[in-house]
Amino acid sequence: MTLALTDSPVRSPIVNPVVDPPSRERIYVLQGGARLSGTVQIGGAKNAALPILAATLLTADTCTLENVPDIADVRVMLDLLRHMGAEVEHEAALSRVTVCCADIRTRTTPDALAERFRGSFLVMGPLLARFGQASTARPGGCNIGSRPVDVHSKGFAALGAQVANVDHRFAASGRLRGANILLDVPSHTGTENIIMAAVLAEGLTVIDNASIEPEVLELVQFLRSLGARIAWASTARQLVIQGVPRLHGSVYRLMPDRLEAGTYLLAGAITRGDVTVERIVPDHLRSVMGKLVEVGATIEEHDHSVRVVVDRPLRAADVHTYFYPGFPTDLQQPFTALLTQAVGESIVQETVFEARMTYAYELQRMGADIRVNGSTAVVTGPSVLHGTTVTAQDLRAGAAVMLAALAAEGDTRIRGAHTVERGYNRLIENLCALGAVGHAEWLESAPA
Ligand code: EPU
Repeated sequence: MTLALTDSPVRSPIVNPVVDPPSRERIYVLQGGARLSGTVQIGGAKNAALPILAATLLTADTCTLENVPDIADVRVMLDLLRHMGAEVEHEAALSRVTVCCADIRTRTTPDALAERFRGSFLVMGPLLARFGQASTARPGGCNIGSRPVDVHSKGFAALGAQVANVDHRFAASGRLRGANILLDVPSHTGTENIIMAAVLAEGLTVIDNASIEPEVLELVQFLRSLGARIAWASTARQLVIQGVPRLHGSVYRLMPDRLEAGTYLLAGAITRGDVTVERIVPDHLRSVMGKLVEVGATIEEHDHSVRVVVDRPLRAADVHTYFYPGFPTDLQQPFTALLTQAVGESIVQETVFEARMTYAYELQRMGADIRVNGSTAVVTGPSVLHGTTVTAQDLRAGAAVMLAALAAEGDTRIRGAHTVERGYNRLIENLCALGAVGHAEWLESAPA
């Protein structure tokens, strides 16, 4: 099959100071032992911001987004949109982004940016829907499995697009018509891409076995604010989309980040502290709160906040990750760090990604008793953790080693701070505001 490209890929050198491999390496240093207490306000959701920013390509009108997190992945997405011709204003201090995609000059993403993160693939659906043509490099992102994109491609093909995948480049073109689509797996970004392709297609699209992660439904709400016609039945995992000829602009406030909120709750729990996360939707954390109660934490739930208090020894619990509303895979690694401090044997089964256990090695080096077999980890606790130098191998693995560092004796030096900063805004600063002792510093020489 040949690539249906009319635009050649943009290959201009692109330097993004936030995410380009730094010439100097930033590391975190955390001294364990402090009990965290206090309140932290949660920002907008990374995994809602990325598809919603991509969705601004669907309209020539201006979209203003509020509560946008100031994290590296968002900044790369904004750069990607700018390189394609979008006018972007980022008021980071106000958490506000204004995007106008009236003059998009290419249907192809710049490789240097696309290869940096998974979210880049999310421009495929909107470009295909609005311009009948899209192409991009294989997306990057955390190395937690093979992360194929066949669900996306099959969805585009079902809508009538011609789809090609040659030399790690993907292209799709054609006029889209509504279709019935049954997803092989309820892929999160796959569902988002197909929804965005279908909103401007002629006729009715029904997506079955769709992802119903809160961020996917947040994208649906945003698209509805642009004039899209979408209905869903969460219990049936079904989305119904009636295509419309055009979409208009909107002003939209993003949902809070449930994974950031969960990370701070776990930080409170691992330090036997008393931490409240504010400006959240507690319902999004139902499975995580349930597990925290199971290990012996006290949870207090309010309309827009959740408090965790631990004042007794933690006990072991088994965790099985699953698609929402199951236990989120993104909190599997941080929760495993917590289980190293629980009395007894916990079994953690990762069922969403096939390679999300490699961070266990870092926890073992800190003294954790974890045996990994494939996607199952057996954690025996409580372990006395000790500070050493560890690496944030991916975003949530980084959060996991930071939590372990909070409970460890002595100083832990965490390499790969830029990986953590892809998805967390001011994590080390916020932990310190809650009472942790730590700082970020620059290593003099470049990483090997
Ligand atoms: N899958 C396929 N075919 C596909 C797509 C996915 O087989 O075409 C499989 C994957 O191999 C995996 C499973 O389906 O086993 C789930 O993958 P999914 O597509 O749902 O994940 P994703 O869309 O690539 C998003 C988030 C991840 C989060 C997962 C699961 C974004 C940008 N990323 O990834 O977030 O872990 O959904 O909820 O939304 C993170 O924030 O740290 C992160 C990795």
